[in-house]
Amino acid sequence: MQGFAGKVAVLTGAGSGIGQALAVELGRSGASVAISDVDTEGLALTEERLKAIGAPVKANRLDVTEREAFQAYADAVKEHFGKVNQVYNNAGIAYSGDVEVTQFKDIERVMDVDFWGVVNGTKVFLPHLIESGDGHVVNISSVFGLFSVPGQAAYNSAKFAVRGFTEALRQEMIRAKHPVKVTTVHPGGIQTAIARNATVAEGLDQAALAQSFDTLAMTPPEKAARIILDGVRRNRARVLVGPDAKILDLIVRITGSGYQRLLRPIMGRL
Ligand SMILES: NC(=O)c1ccc[n+]([C@@H]2O[C@H](COP(=O)([O-])OP(=O)(O)OC[C@H]3O[C@@H](n4cnc5c(N)ncnc54)[C@H](O)[C@@H]3O)[C@@H](O)[C@H]2O)c1
Repeated sequence: MQGFAGKVAVLTGAGSGIGQALAVELGRSGASVAISDVDTEGLALTEERLKAIGAPVKANRLDVTEREAFQAYADAVKEHFGKVNQVYNNAGIAYSGDVEVTQFKDIERVMDVDFWGVVNGTKVFLPHLIESGDGHVVNISSVFGLFSVPGQAAYNSAKFAVRGFTEALRQEMIRAKHPVKVTTVHPGGIQTAIARNATVAEGLDQAALAQSFDTLAMTPPEKAARIILDGVRRNRARVLVGPDAKILDLIVRITGSGYQRLLRPIMGRL
């Protein structure tokens, strides 16, 4: 894939799934890659794969919710590679449970990782991206940042917030004439470990939920990574990943809030 040679790309949550696939694809395309995750085993595997390709790589344990550590990390990446062109705020967690039975701490945890992690990553790298003269912020939302479903209020909130934050940032960068492009990514079901890593409200069967997710997820992470990077290369404001994401986006745009009624029978079965 063209457009990434010589660029320095930063990826959070790079030890698994979409983040790992993005790291490998960026490495193959000639980018230098700074990868991080809380899962150091998964991260080591991604590092190995990048080294095998011959891509310059810097791997660090980083929890995206730890703002001070994130700031120090951003400065260390700039120091190491001399510049930073792209940041992919990808790290995320999932949680299932109706609002009625969900604890405050469960909602806060999802917001901390899925929303504040994205804000932290954007803010600490933004000065470096502007300085690079050719920057790009790529924030991973979800189709659940386009419409809501029962049992996903916490995740929906975080992913809608990522979309709001990122769409505003894109307009700000254009208005300020900063050399930073901004893309929001909305994946549909991607075949990763996200549901197996998820937590659920008391009384829900985590294994059964993960299994039903695994049968529904249509797109392999490698394909998702190629779609995302193609959107980045074309400076798309919004990237929809997978046929399910495209269909659901269309339904929401055509029906407005009517999607809630329309999707009720399907959501009931899930
Ligand atoms: N898989 C899907 O169907 C799907 C759909 C829409 C959006 N997404 C989003 O894509 C992104 C990647 O998810 P994935 O499907 O590859 O899941 P995954 O579970 O395979 O990978 C997520 C990675 O994030 C890491 N992580 C979790 N908490 C972290 C923290 N506090 N700090 C740093 N790293 C942390 C995990 O250790 C893991 O390696 C997430 O933001 C997710 O919400 C996924």
